[in-house]
Amino acid sequence: MERILIKETKEKVGEKVKVVGWINSIRDHGKLTFIDLRDRTGLVQLVGKELPKISNESVVEVVGKVAKRPEKLVNSNLETGGIEIQIEKFEVISKAKEIPIPLDTDGYDIEEGTRLKYRYLDLRRERLTKNIRIRSKAINFIRNWLTEKDFVDIETPIFTKTTPEGARDFLVPSRLQPGKFYALPQSPQQYKQLLMVSGFEKYFQIARCFRDEDPRADRAYGEFTQLDIEMSFTDQEEILKLTEQLFTDLIKKVFPEKKITKEPWPRLTHAEAIKKYGNDKPDLRKDTKDPNELAFVWIVDFPLFVKQEKEDFYHGIGKAKYAPSHHMFTAPHPDDISMLDKDPLKVRGLQHDMVLNGHEVGGGSIRIHQAEIQEKIFKLIGFDDKQKKQFEHLLQAFEYGVPPHGGIAPGIDRFLYTVLGERSLREVMAFPMTAGGTTAVMDAPSRAGEEQLKELGIKVTESRDKKK
Ligand code: AMO
Repeated sequence: MERILIKETKEKVGEKVKVVGWINSIRDHGKLTFIDLRDRTGLVQLVGKELPKISNESVVEVVGKVAKRPEKLVNSNLETGGIEIQIEKFEVISKAKEIPIPLDTDGYDIEEGTRLKYRYLDLRRERLTKNIRIRSKAINFIRNWLTEKDFVDIETPIFTKTTPEGARDFLVPSRLQPGKFYALPQSPQQYKQLLMVSGFEKYFQIARCFRDEDPRADRAYGEFTQLDIEMSFTDQEEILKLTEQLFTDLIKKVFPEKKITKEPWPRLTHAEAIKKYGNDKPDLRKDTKDPNELAFVWIVDFPLFVKQEKEDFYHGIGKAKYAPSHHMFTAPHPDDISMLDKDPLKVRGLQHDMVLNGHEVGGGSIRIHQAEIQEKIFKLIGFDDKQKKQFEHLLQAFEYGVPPHGGIAPGIDRFLYTVLGERSLREVMAFPMTAGGTTAVMDAPSRAGEEQLKELGIKVTESRDKKK
């Protein structure tokens, strides 16, 4: 007999069916036992006599007859609340030990380290299951939408050289070239620009990014996901319009209960935002208590540079008074180029930030495609020849016919966290790291074996090693 899905059982009144799943709850009423059985499609009530003793969350297979419930026993909270299955055959497939964390609550009050240690159980929680499913729907929608608009989905390498976005890099030692390291990309920024040189014109990727920076509620430690977009022969207007259309369509399709405060999305210059709201990611909701309100706003005309307070502020390598306010590939505003030499802090950049309910959910820019301007920026941010050499490949590529280009990268995790009104980014990620940088379930980072270290030409110094 073929298994049917729990959501299908309500159509099978009077028939014998087979269902499988997890025991969600058990109620023992003397002779009769009631069980709520759960599969990926929902819950259904089973009723039987003289069942073996069985714990919650065990996996079972059940054959029984679907019966209509008497009117007064109908459970209107349950999709299958009008029926129950009268157990004829009950087989325990896999017994569950006592579950270390409660799963029938929202889970917010459980210590997070414990939730992440048992993340595979934590994910059985209804709230998290929903978040992860909606994430899948949103990503699917984005992929289809962009593909229809002639964008090409291209994967870029994870083993690479530094791509500075202002955080520390994660390094991976090379065995074949001991003493040398790969860096994990903080974003696919340079590769997407190289793809424009290759002539793809419209690129996107659901891209994993790696940054070693202090976590916050809306900032993941370690890894997160961006919708990375780049276009050739474009301008800021086109990038803003395309992103706005994509996210408006996405909200309407995947989050129909949400209301966008203002369409088209308002735009503010950086100076206006600071003057009016005191920050560059204002929350423009009319009612911050309304969980369904989404107030998007574009922030444009950022200053190209910020003043560098500490000598090593920017990526630990620039040693000048100025650091890029976005990143060093952002083009200066064409009207301000003459000020680059005279008053760099007054130069505006062609940067755009996508802000939602007070969170910066995306950032991007028109890029520099002229070597002489890129050289000038390198100089202003204090790069010496050695540091410049790290980006030589990009300048070299630009010598072979580079289209003007630009793009944007909305953060998938941060967008979902904001739309769903979650308490931390970790609530929309399947296996996030703890705030302390330990992975969920698997307890990495861990020590490497002596042999492995030897092959890599690495010696762990004692003082560091003792900390563990
Ligand atoms: P930026 O560094 O502004 O730009 O990042 C773009 C978006 O990525 C998300 N984001 C993060 N999400 C979670 N945890 C983090 N630690 C984290 N850091 C960033 C945010 C942010 O708005 N290459 C450029 C994009 C471009 O110019 O096209 C870039 O990465 O939502």
